[in-house]
Amino acid sequence: TIAVLDFGSQLTQVIARRIRESQVYSKIYHFGTPAAKLREDGVVGVILSGGPQSVYSKSAPHPDAEIFQLGVPVLGICYGVQLMGHFLGGRVEHSKAREYGHGHLTIKKPGKLFQGLPKKLRIWNSHGDKLAKLPPGFVAVGTSENSPYSAIEDAKRGFYGIQFHPEVFHTERGVDIIRNFLVGVCRAKQDWTTKDFIAHSVADIRAKVGKGRVLLGLSGGVDSSVAAALLHKAIGSQLTCVFVDNGLLRKGERDYVRELYGKHFNIDLRVVDASALFLKRLKGVSDPETKRKIIGRTFVEVFERTLKKIGRTAEFLGQGTLYPDVIESVSIQGNPASLIKTHHNVGGLPERMKLKLVEPLRELFKDEVRRVGEALGLPREVVWRQPFPGPGLGVRVMGDITKDKLEILRNADAVLQEEMMKSGLYWKVWQSFAVFLPVKTVGVFGDERTYDYVIALRIVESTDAMTADWAKIPHDLLQKISSRITNEVRGVSRVVLDISSKPPATIEWE
Ligand code: XMP
Repeated sequence: TIAVLDFGSQLTQVIARRIRESQVYSKIYHFGTPAAKLREDGVVGVILSGGPQSVYSKSAPHPDAEIFQLGVPVLGICYGVQLMGHFLGGRVEHSKAREYGHGHLTIKKPGKLFQGLPKKLRIWNSHGDKLAKLPPGFVAVGTSENSPYSAIEDAKRGFYGIQFHPEVFHTERGVDIIRNFLVGVCRAKQDWTTKDFIAHSVADIRAKVGKGRVLLGLSGGVDSSVAAALLHKAIGSQLTCVFVDNGLLRKGERDYVRELYGKHFNIDLRVVDASALFLKRLKGVSDPETKRKIIGRTFVEVFERTLKKIGRTAEFLGQGTLYPDVIESVSIQGNPASLIKTHHNVGGLPERMKLKLVEPLRELFKDEVRRVGEALGLPREVVWRQPFPGPGLGVRVMGDITKDKLEILRNADAVLQEEMMKSGLYWKVWQSFAVFLPVKTVGVFGDERTYDYVIALRIVESTDAMTADWAKIPHDLLQKISSRITNEVRGVSRVVLDISSKPPATIEWE
């Protein structure tokens, strides 16, 4: 095991992820974990994470000083290297100004940490304080514009410190630096795979849940689907999944979910048809935020009512929370995404219902979740499916929502998805969907004048949904989609293509 001591950096989980990428097993520990506990756990190396504090501040998190006596290698990252300075007899300079962003590292002595790497690397910094005097036994092995001690080592004791962040994507060859520490220095075994993750996770879930029952809201999206499959593997019939049909689903979605989870995976699946209630509440409402709030609130209400009905004995609520959801919900992150549109969740419900949370994917990133899903035998259509917003087609019918408009949108969207799948582009773009515009335009069908609605195609490329660009789809495919929609979907006389990027437009129209 590699122990990652967490000093409160938002990047701690990213460090853990990089370690997993090297197929090495790691565990995140509270910063103050006693050295004896780490020894007991058979730790072969320790990484000290970054953190927002100054080592001098009163509330600064400090590790057990004994970790430096464990006889295992230690790598300090950012705040971690300052802790090394502080604990091992160096000096840390307090500075108010932060150094933030790109820099360049010049490697003077590769040693084990920079083995096989170029002499110059682009690095990414984010720190206030810095090391002003090396602790005894250490030498500087890398310098940057702003620091003669950007990378330091005491090879004899196996202590390494780097002021920059090797775990972030912006640091060139950062993954190799971490792997060098894990494999070259700690000699950690590289045998940790997705299968091991599943086995560990199954054991954890069983230990936590015991004979209890777990309820899980299944949306059909990647996260809740993988969580369901994993929980089912762990506890089988102690899991009950609830799928709420809010009347805002895509064509065939409900049957698909029933088929896959109920039949194929043999999960105890309860499908709740609440579409009438949702549509009643949404009647005449056209403001996007109001719609989102109504949908969110109604979902929680229906979900809670369903749980009460079926879950008298349940103690646990399962959730497909991923690591990015965990950081995004931290308010200091100041994540603008959460302010622009109200996303829906079941916050508050577990406390009200006295349910304990089981979140087996909490430490994973999306691509890792997909790999877990594949290893659990979920079909590609589920594991690699495009994101779909919680409020569903409710935010894809512009203006007020009616059954008829939903039906038109559903049919148009189905044509688009079918053609995207056929061409293989469905898997290459981030999202592709249809939007219903309540604008009537004149057309001609046969010899008849028509006066019908407009469907917009929204097809975007993105890596994280924070920014997006409209996808350059071949014209002949667009033509096919357009002519099929106008021919096959009654009520549509015109198809338009959305060529806006994000920003300034968002991906969804509402
Ligand atoms: P926007 O429209 O903000 O969307 O550019 C970014 C990504 O988030 C999805 N999205 C949602 N996902 N609940 C969700 O789970 C929501 O309320 C929601 N609204 C938007 C959107 O599809 C895109 O992938």
